[in-house]
Amino acid sequence: MKTAIYPGSFDPVTNGHLDIIKRASTMFDKLVVVVLINPLKSYSFEISERRELLEKATEGIKNIEIDSYDGLLADYFTQRSDVDVIVKGLRATSDFEYEFQMAHTNKDLNPRAETVFIPASANSTFISSSMVKQVAMFGGDLSNYVPPMIHVEISERLKSEFQEKKRLAELNRKDGK
Ligand code: PNS
Repeated sequence: MKTAIYPGSFDPVTNGHLDIIKRASTMFDKLVVVVLINPLKSYSFEISERRELLEKATEGIKNIEIDSYDGLLADYFTQRSDVDVIVKGLRATSDFEYEFQMAHTNKDLNPRAETVFIPASANSTFISSSMVKQVAMFGGDLSNYVPPMIHVEISERLKSEFQEKKRLAELNRKDGK
């Protein structure tokens, strides 16, 4: 039995992530999708929300588990003796350098942690969570970029986050901060 881990921020999950999830779930007996934190990034969704959105987006995929972890991926890998390999999606050469660095860091921290890369499908090479966030914040249509069952939830959540940010910025401006 081969089990793979698909790690990411998933802030929020996009059709690009779902493409990798669906394809990886046919390549391995089990796929563990794990929501992690990059401490250098700021997130729009809490880790629990990101996990919930992933659960909704992957409903119906049988051999999948959704998990989250507040720590190093290499440590998560060490704790899960049932997992064999890390899966990452590659959209373009621009992803490569960063992903290559992470693959080597993870292997250095845990020599058992090998990474395999799956090329993104042609129609999702341009989709990213940050692009989705910008489109949603200005009220754009997300239906081609995120799974249909969570499209409205993501749009509304991001629109209200942006309105709140603008409201606070305006208050600070008035207070001369
Ligand atoms: O979707 P992302 O933001 O490219 O995912 C990056 C993520 C969250 C998988 C990566 O930052 C991560 O593994 N975070 C946990 C901490 C860690 O192990 N970092 C890699 C070694 S420096």
